[in-house]
Amino acid sequence: METTTNLRDVFAAEDTNAVARKKDHIELAFKSQVKENQVDKRFYYEPVLSKHPDKNTLPHFQFLGKTMRSPLWVSSMTGGTELANKINHNLARACQDFGMGMGLGSCRSLLYSDEYLKDFNVRPLIGNNLPLYANLGIAQLEQLVDNNEYYIIENLINKLNADGLIIHVNPLQEWLQPEGDRFKYAPIDTIKRLIDRLDLKIIVKEVGQGMGYESLKALFQLPLEAIDFAANGGTNFAKLELLRSNEMKQVIYGQLANVGHSAEDMVGITNQVLAELGHKALCKQVIISGGIQSFLDGYYLINKLQTNCVYGQASAFLKHARGSYEELYDYVDAQIEGLELANAFLKVR
Ligand SMILES: Cc1cc2nc3c(=O)[nH]c(=O)nc-3n(C[C@H](O)[C@H](O)[C@H](O)COP(=O)(O)O)c2cc1C
Repeated sequence: METTTNLRDVFAAEDTNAVARKKDHIELAFKSQVKENQVDKRFYYEPVLSKHPDKNTLPHFQFLGKTMRSPLWVSSMTGGTELANKINHNLARACQDFGMGMGLGSCRSLLYSDEYLKDFNVRPLIGNNLPLYANLGIAQLEQLVDNNEYYIIENLINKLNADGLIIHVNPLQEWLQPEGDRFKYAPIDTIKRLIDRLDLKIIVKEVGQGMGYESLKALFQLPLEAIDFAANGGTNFAKLELLRSNEMKQVIYGQLANVGHSAEDMVGITNQVLAELGHKALCKQVIISGGIQSFLDGYYLINKLQTNCVYGQASAFLKHARGSYEELYDYVDAQIEGLELANAFLKVR
């Protein structure tokens, strides 16, 4: 059939870059070789089954009792500096714009002063309909529990209008941190004491080392709101504290940074633990985090994990959250478009 004059004009108008494009193709072809061993074997690529995705088509879902519009979590980061204020405010705005949840960085300073409250006070930006969690270390919680000062935790949650508390459990970080704390009790016992005394949604996380089978099995049997992996493979606080420490410590403890569990390892262990526990599992929600580089890693892992989950990133967001809000917006927008593309064309093997 002859192409109509009308359509010929449309094709011509749509192909204005044809000459430059063809030249690019010839010049860039040799730089665009992918070796067989670089092919990503995690997915089946199914190009014939979907059209290109429309924008804002990720399915909404319930997580931590709220409706999320993206399966993304802003992992706990910092407060207490001028830059942290900007970072937290940018991140909270992005959560509202894209329907993500957010964990605040350690709110330890708010236990004794409200000087930095404004850095953490992002509920007005994220809004009431998305999850926002406060964050404290197990070392501070040990002290509060020992002193029966549960009201201080409740005050913190109220002050921030948070949905609950993330507890970070970080024995290696504390051990290596020059000004680190020592735990008097096994963290699991402190967590149990908190659960017994507080009517509060609790999430437990590591800080970049992950957790093994026995720890996950113990935690999944508790009525926690979620477990956040904070796996090894990305930002690692054992390594970070060693960098702040002296040379002898760096030599002696250097290898410790490589110990732990990757997010993929933890997905496998969690599937096993949940299958073994069956109805004895009281915690059913997971934030997969630690070393998640991109939407592709996140998409793969949330599809592999057989329970309600999102994926979290810290350093990846941090990279784009220190400057203008527009930069962060563009970064998250691109991640979400990537997820939409993956939903359309990639099936996890
Ligand atoms: C600058 C920075 C500050 C952090 N502060 C905290 C914190 O206060 N509390 C906490 O639980 N985790 C903290 N983390 C750890 C992250 O929540 C996360 O578990 C870890 O960075 C691994 O994720 P990533 O590989 O995506 O960076 C921090 C991470 C970064 C990069």
